[in-house]
Amino acid sequence: MTRLFNIIEAQQFSPEVMAEIFAVAREMEQVVQHYGSNILNRRIMATLFYEPSTRTRLSFESAMRRLGGEVLTTESAQEFSSAAKGETLEDTIRVIAGYADVVVLRHFEGGASERASAVADVPIINAGDGAGQHPTQALLDMYTIEREIGRLSDISVAMVGDLANGRTVRSLCYLLSKYQGNKVYFVAPEIVRMKEDIKSYLSGHGICHEEVDNLYDVAPEVDVIYQTRIQRERFDNVADYEAARGKYVIDRKLLDCLSAEAVVMHPLPRVDEIDAAAVDDDPRAAYFRQAHNGLYVRMALLKMLLAG
Ligand code: CP
Repeated sequence: MTRLFNIIEAQQFSPEVMAEIFAVAREMEQVVQHYGSNILNRRIMATLFYEPSTRTRLSFESAMRRLGGEVLTTESAQEFSSAAKGETLEDTIRVIAGYADVVVLRHFEGGASERASAVADVPIINAGDGAGQHPTQALLDMYTIEREIGRLSDISVAMVGDLANGRTVRSLCYLLSKYQGNKVYFVAPEIVRMKEDIKSYLSGHGICHEEVDNLYDVAPEVDVIYQTRIQRERFDNVADYEAARGKYVIDRKLLDCLSAEAVVMHPLPRVDEIDAAAVDDDPRAAYFRQAHNGLYVRMALLKMLLAG
């Protein structure tokens, strides 16, 4: 089994390592059905979250407990850790690294996990750094695509919504670029279009990408619609947020344009960009299965970081 150390950015994962992670994640589905395992007995994971989270923090904590490990947790760390007294991230990490065997960090600044890894002698897992990256989300997204579509190459994905501030779509682009024949459509309001660094990265790795204004133009041909929330918390003024929201909504009319095999994904939380009453019961709505897959992928990552 490949031994992982820090998980900082999606680019670090090769297709071979991803295949191994996904094989372990499938084993973890069985482990959960059989009420867990003790392979991480006496190991301790600290979750240090400076931004809100439901899925990432709780799925990591569930993953650790289901593998027999223990959890130390600080949510609202900006307020409830000694950051409130002016302690630097680096000092906080140096201290927590003495208490835990792995640190799962969510922070509001891009690059925070890399800074943390420079001073920690235990693995750091990037659980989202500002508008930077969210590599474990991208891994669970790819796991979901493989489970739902049956392959990771020759896939057409429409990424929709807040692409400028979306760390999930940025990380997912890096992983999609590891496989042949993938194509990405960027469908975003003018003010939150995908940034140039990602578009150049895709071009440099031979991945076709195109900006599209009308989602209906590409809906019939895509395998995945990856919808995202317009992130109010990333806007400096309400007028810009109001200008961006509500332009692209997944509803019954859009579903009727998709192929029968396509899936709708969303990293969640959602606000108003999916018409829940019209879409949730459609078998192509994969977002809750996607969120559940986060548990198995994070169990696999913890096993590959800490077991043995
Ligand atoms: N997808 C995701 O990162 O969700 P949370 O913000 O709830 O962790």
